[in-house]
Amino acid sequence: MYLRFLQIYAKKSYIAEKTNTMSRKKSLLHRLSDISKIHHRAAFTDVEKHTAPQKSDFLRLASERYSCRAFTEAPVSDKHLSSILEAARLAPTAQDRQPVHIWVFKSAEALERIKQVTRYSYDAPLVILVGCYPAKAWVRAADGKNGAEVDAAIVGTHIMMETAALGLGSTWVGSFDPAKLAELFPETAGCVPVALFPIGHPKAKPSENHSKRKSIEELVSEI
Ligand SMILES: Cc1cc2nc3c(=O)[nH]c(=O)nc-3n(C[C@H](O)[C@H](O)[C@H](O)COP(=O)(O)O)c2cc1C
Repeated sequence: MYLRFLQIYAKKSYIAEKTNTMSRKKSLLHRLSDISKIHHRAAFTDVEKHTAPQKSDFLRLASERYSCRAFTEAPVSDKHLSSILEAARLAPTAQDRQPVHIWVFKSAEALERIKQVTRYSYDAPLVILVGCYPAKAWVRAADGKNGAEVDAAIVGTHIMMETAALGLGSTWVGSFDPAKLAELFPETAGCVPVALFPIGHPKAKPSENHSKRKSIEELVSEI
């Protein structure tokens, strides 16, 4: 009788223990599945984060820059001007010839004279001229192509991008009278003027989609 009692007790304990273990296992499995769901979500969030096209700082700047054609009367600080000129100085040139020169028009009198050189100075408080000396530039041996204007264009691009990075506005102005420039600013004689940059604090934001660029498909061909 006592033996039978022991047998029943042992069986009950075994069943209780088993049920306990099973429920512990179940809860553990639930917890694991929760964890794996979290990991799954985290993994996919991560995938999205890593596969979505990431804009570099430069790309953000390039997509935000626009030709600014209206400025406030606030002057461009010396600190900002120094940064813009430093960006120009750092631009690469073919064979490192650096056949480029920069003139800064800042005085009210110089800015008045610039208005006779171009209709596009937009009353900016500062105008920069980028010019080049072809005689000092690299020349491509294969066809004699002179690199001076390409060098100046890269310098101009650095000026334009640094201006935008500083939160200032500018426009690349190619429409001006070179002969009038040489006449009114004899200091520039001998240089080929490439671009003028009116620079200042933007008066207004550009309109949405102010310029619709070609698509990559239209712009790029793979060979
Ligand atoms: C080589 C070059 C010459 C340009 N000349 C002038 C100009 O004389 N006057 C002007 O208002 N804008 C000028 N622009 C500005 C362009 O019209 C402008 O960059 C273009 O419409 C694209 O607009 P976004 O700069 O706002 O993106 C010139 C731009 C380049 C690159």
